[in-house]
Amino acid sequence: MIRKAVLPVAGLGTRCLPASKAIPKEMITIVDRPVIQYVVEEAVAAGIRDIVLVTHSSKSAIENHFDKHFELEATLEAKGKHDLLEAVRGIVPKDVNIISVRQPEPLGLGHAVLCARPVIGDDEPFAVLLPDVLVDDYGLAHNDLAGMIAAFDATGLSQLMVEEVPWERVHQYGIVAPEQAVPAAGESAPLAGMVEKPAREAAPSNLAVIGRYVLPGHIFPLLAETPPGAGNEIQLTDAIDTLRAADGVDAWRMRGQTFDCGNPLGYLEATLAYGSRHPEIGADFRELITRHARSE
Ligand code: G1P
Repeated sequence: MIRKAVLPVAGLGTRCLPASKAIPKEMITIVDRPVIQYVVEEAVAAGIRDIVLVTHSSKSAIENHFDKHFELEATLEAKGKHDLLEAVRGIVPKDVNIISVRQPEPLGLGHAVLCARPVIGDDEPFAVLLPDVLVDDYGLAHNDLAGMIAAFDATGLSQLMVEEVPWERVHQYGIVAPEQAVPAAGESAPLAGMVEKPAREAAPSNLAVIGRYVLPGHIFPLLAETPPGAGNEIQLTDAIDTLRAADGVDAWRMRGQTFDCGNPLGYLEATLAYGSRHPEIGADFRELITRHARSE
């Protein structure tokens, strides 16, 4: 059973400027809640109960979002606004803990995950969710992260979520080399290697790691010894490749759809998807889109 997840949120979000100047990029709204709330909901739906935020002093709005706001709750209660009160109280289910640690220097994703070592320990497997990526599980009985956790429980092998990306974008991702066949959607297959942000000519495939990982605790000593790699940063991909050479690592081919909320077009696409099926405003939003398209 995997109960803990690490969410690295210390990055300054330069790709989202100017929106992310005074608020964390993870707090940008998709329809009625910030991006980070969708990611926490995804983790909780997959059985995670301890969420470890690896954060930065400028991003306290994220911790505040998941903390109790006593004055707000008392005001909503006094005014009889019970629906809003439930929405605010429901942001974090009662049996879920939000824990935060700091990443003191921007030394890379591998270093950010390593900052969670004192909370997770070297003996317990855990998940990593990168909040730039929203994974939409609409229509699925269990989300992809739950599938990855089940695959880890069954095999003991680390799981990296992958999907195909256009060849001209392979240099933006960790790219994997399947040992034999590319896994079918909703299945895992072993990897022969992986490389962080390769040039197109050097990429072993166009299967990219998409921000969801299930890893054993003994990745931490490997991370502690990983030298800076691509971009002169300590790369999670490099430590996982060391783990793969020793123990084997699987790629989980995702079934859902992803939105890259590290850039404005990704936010807009996510807004279209989540807004169109929102229980209260979805019908009006769809009507609005149609009306707008007609007037173009
Ligand atoms: C990170 C990882 C990379 C992964 C990507 C998308 O890169 O290092 O392996 O493919 O996220 O999830 P970043 O986008 O932070 O540069």
